Amino acid sequence: MGKKQVLIPGGYGAVGTIISTLLSKNDHIIPVVAGRNEDQAKQLAQDLNCKWTTIDLEKSESIEHALNNIDIVISCYIPSSDFNTFLPDICAESGIHYLDVAAFNQFNEKVMDLNEKAALNGAILITALGLFPGIPGLILGSNTDFFDKIDSADIFFTSGGNMDTLTPLALQGIGHMMGVMPMQWENESWIKAPAKGRKEYVSEPFNKQITFYPYMVTHDLVELPKIVKTDKIVMWSMSESFFLGMVLLMGIKMGLAKTIKRAEKFLSVLRFLGKKKHRDYSLKIVSRGEKENLPYERVVEMNETEEFLTAIVPTIICEQIAKGDISRVGAYIGAGVVDIQKFIVSLKKAGINYKDIIKKI
Ligand SMILES: NC(=O)c1ccc[n+]([C@@H]2O[C@H](COP(=O)([O-])OP(=O)(O)OC[C@H]3O[C@@H](n4cnc5c(N)ncnc54)[C@H](OP(=O)(O)O)[C@@H]3O)[C@@H](O)[C@H]2O)c1
Repeated sequence: MGKKQVLIPGGYGAVGTIISTLLSKNDHIIPVVAGRNEDQAKQLAQDLNCKWTTIDLEKSESIEHALNNIDIVISCYIPSSDFNTFLPDICAESGIHYLDVAAFNQFNEKVMDLNEKAALNGAILITALGLFPGIPGLILGSNTDFFDKIDSADIFFTSGGNMDTLTPLALQGIGHMMGVMPMQWENESWIKAPAKGRKEYVSEPFNKQITFYPYMVTHDLVELPKIVKTDKIVMWSMSESFFLGMVLLMGIKMGLAKTIKRAEKFLSVLRFLGKKKHRDYSLKIVSRGEKENLPYERVVEMNETEEFLTAIVPTIICEQIAKGDISRVGAYIGAGVVDIQKFIVSLKKAGINYKDIIKKI
């Protein structure tokens, strides 16, 4: 098998650096670190002994140039406010496989619209492969291996919000995400989620009870009930520091991240407030259903940093594509095309603190 060249736009950002580093350890892959800043791309590529290039994802000529000899792309770019899809569009057109970690409904829907073009040209496009909704989507997708019937699923995640690595652009991205209404799947449709919170215990490093609040629905999860029949799905989120989470939410609502300049100032306030805060991240997915007519509950938990959990998903899936494990072409969400059991095995191998417990209730 020849080595596959993997272009990573945003490859020296918080998430991208982890992807570039992990892929540089794979003998079958040559990572190509990319972004608009030549010095940063070059520096990381030298450190990792891999390739680099410059790319501006808002200019199609720049994208076409960077895609020369590329087999797979993992985009860690934060889509601009017009949610341009130049990169996945050119990939679909040129038969280059494309993965991203973006969790922005408008952007993900536009990528899914490229299904026919991608299928025609032999490209695999998988969108929204970050920690959220990528991992919960894949875990819920694997529920059919355990349950005969799935009644409900609750997805909880606790963000410590790493203020040291958060960039003004990423803060704006959080603003876009928070602009989406919390919804829940019930009685075969998505309805507005009630605003009330729900208390849950999360394990180490938190070991405490946290009140979660309904969280935005993403395109991935909108698609999921079509793939995995579940009567009810609710997403819940809370910042590890309640205080910091509230300041973040209120600041974004007040427009403090509207422009990059404002986001920079707001970020310095958040960094000041977030000093010495715990920066781990916890994800918990609770599913309930039946097996042989008996009620069962499956609880999946993992604790890692937000960036690592976001980076590991497209990294594993890129390695699967490079090995030829995924062959179905077109545009998909993860649960629609990935071999989920193999994905979970790789997740554990990557050293993720992963717990998966099924018990009769
Ligand atoms: N799904 C999840 O759970 C989850 C969690 C965390 C993050 N994310 C997503 O992951 C992505 C990256 O986040 P991050 O925290 O790593 O952000 P970051 O540190 O700000 O990195 C963003 C990278 O994108 C590059 N970039 C920005 N505009 C570009 C353009 N026009 N052309 C080419 N490159 C460009 C930046 O480099 P230059 O500015 O130098 O070009 C930078 O390297 C975002 O889409 C974020 O929403 C998802």
